[in-house]
Amino acid sequence: MKSALNIKPVKSIKGTLTIPGDKSISHRAAIFGALAHGSTCISNFLNAGDCLSTLDCLRQLDVEIEGPAGDSNDIVVHGAGFHGIKEPADVLYAGNSGTTIRLMTGLLASFPLYAVITGDHSLRERPMDRIIKPLTKMGACISGRMENTYPPLSIKGNGRLSGLCYKSPVASAQVKSAILLAGLQANGETSVEEPLLSRDHTERMLEHFGVEVTRSNRGVAVKGPAVLSRRNFTVPGDISSAAFFMVAASIIPGSDVCIRGVGVNPTRTGVIEVLQKMGAGIILQNEREECGEPVADIRVHCASLKGVSLGSDIVPRIIDEIPVLAVAAAMARGKTEIYGIEELKYKETNRVEAIIMQMHNIGVNVEEIEGGIRINSTESIAGGKCCSCGDHRMAMAMAVAGMAARHETVIEEPDCIGISFPGFYDVLKSIAVE
Ligand code: S3P
Repeated sequence: MKSALNIKPVKSIKGTLTIPGDKSISHRAAIFGALAHGSTCISNFLNAGDCLSTLDCLRQLDVEIEGPAGDSNDIVVHGAGFHGIKEPADVLYAGNSGTTIRLMTGLLASFPLYAVITGDHSLRERPMDRIIKPLTKMGACISGRMENTYPPLSIKGNGRLSGLCYKSPVASAQVKSAILLAGLQANGETSVEEPLLSRDHTERMLEHFGVEVTRSNRGVAVKGPAVLSRRNFTVPGDISSAAFFMVAASIIPGSDVCIRGVGVNPTRTGVIEVLQKMGAGIILQNEREECGEPVADIRVHCASLKGVSLGSDIVPRIIDEIPVLAVAAAMARGKTEIYGIEELKYKETNRVEAIIMQMHNIGVNVEEIEGGIRINSTESIAGGKCCSCGDHRMAMAMAVAGMAARHETVIEEPDCIGISFPGFYDVLKSIAVE
C-alpha cells in the first residue's frame, strides 16, 4: 500500500500509448458470457479491481472462468446459460464497484435463490433504492440497510418475475442494466425509459449476443425469456481512462499524443466534444467498429483552451470525466460552469465536494453554484498536497493537474487507482518529457 503518489511537473507529454480495456464493457462481457451457452473468449478484459470483483461474484455463482493470468488480459467464460447460475454459498463482495453490485442484483433477482451482496466502505454508502424499487415491482424481494437504501443487500430472487415498463427518474446505465438483466428471464416485455440516454453498452452487447432489443430515443425493451448465444468479444480501450491523457496533452505545452484503440461509443464521447468546444486539438483517426462498439485512435496536441458553460443534457455523457475536465477548465481562459451534476454526489465519493476541496488544495478555485459548479480559471496550477478521497478518478485527475503544475503535487491515498487503471503511473512515466 502506497501512502502517497508524488507527481513532478513535466515539460510535455509525447508518444503513442494504449490504455486498458473499458471498465463498463468488461463487466458486461463477463456477465453476458456467463449467461450464454458455451465458451466466450474476452480479449483485453480490464484486469483491475472493479472488474475482478465481478469475476469473483460470478465464480461464486458457479460460473467457470479462466484468467486473467500473468501478462495476459484475455479471459474465457464458460457459460452454461441461465441454468448455470447457482445459489452462492457465502456473501458476495462487490468491493468498490457500483456496476458489480447493481448488475449482479438485477441478475440475481430473476433466479429462485437467496444471496447477500455487499461492498467496501464507499459502496456501502451508495444508493441502491434506485434498483430495489423497480426490481421489487417485478416480483423480487430485496432489502437493504437504512430502509432499503444501502448495502449490504439481501436478495430473495424469483424465477417468475413479471416484465415491467419503467420510467427511471435518473439517467443511469447501472439502473437500466440491472432492470434489463432481470427482464431477460421475466415474463413478457421489460422496458426502461430514461430522462436522458445513459451509456448503451448493455443494449449493444445484448444484440451482439443475439438477443432482440427494441430501442427508441431514450428507451429500450427486451422480451423474456431470452437466450444468449456465445460470442467472442474484444474490449476497446476505456475512453474514461484515455480522458486523463487527452486533458494532460491539451494543457501541457508542446504535448502531442496518440491513444490507440479507444472506445468512442457516442454515449461516452462527451469528453471529446467538451474539450473540442473548449478549443482542444483532438482528432479521431482510423475509426472502425469492433463487436458492436465504435473504436478509434485519438490524436491530441496542446492548444489554448477557453472556458465553457455546460448544461445538464451532456452530463450523463461526461459523468466519469468531470473531475479531469475540471482540471482542463482550471487551465482555460475564463470560467467554466457545469450544471445538472447532482449524480456526481453519489459516485465513489461525493465528487462535487471532492473536486472543490482537492482543487483548492492545489491552488484552483472551484465553487458550488445553484445546480452546479463553477471552475475559475488560473494562470497556472500551484501544486501541493491533496487527497484522492479514495476515488480512482479523483486520484488520476489530480495527477494530471500535478503534471501541469508549477510545483510538486503529493496525492494521498493513491492505491484506489488500481480500481480502473493499475498501470496509470507507468503509462504516464512512459510519455512524460521531464
Ligand atoms: C457505469 C455507469 C455510470 C458510471 C460508472 C459505470 C456502468 O454510472 O458513472 O462509472 O458501467 O454502467 P451510472 O449509470 O449510475 O450513472
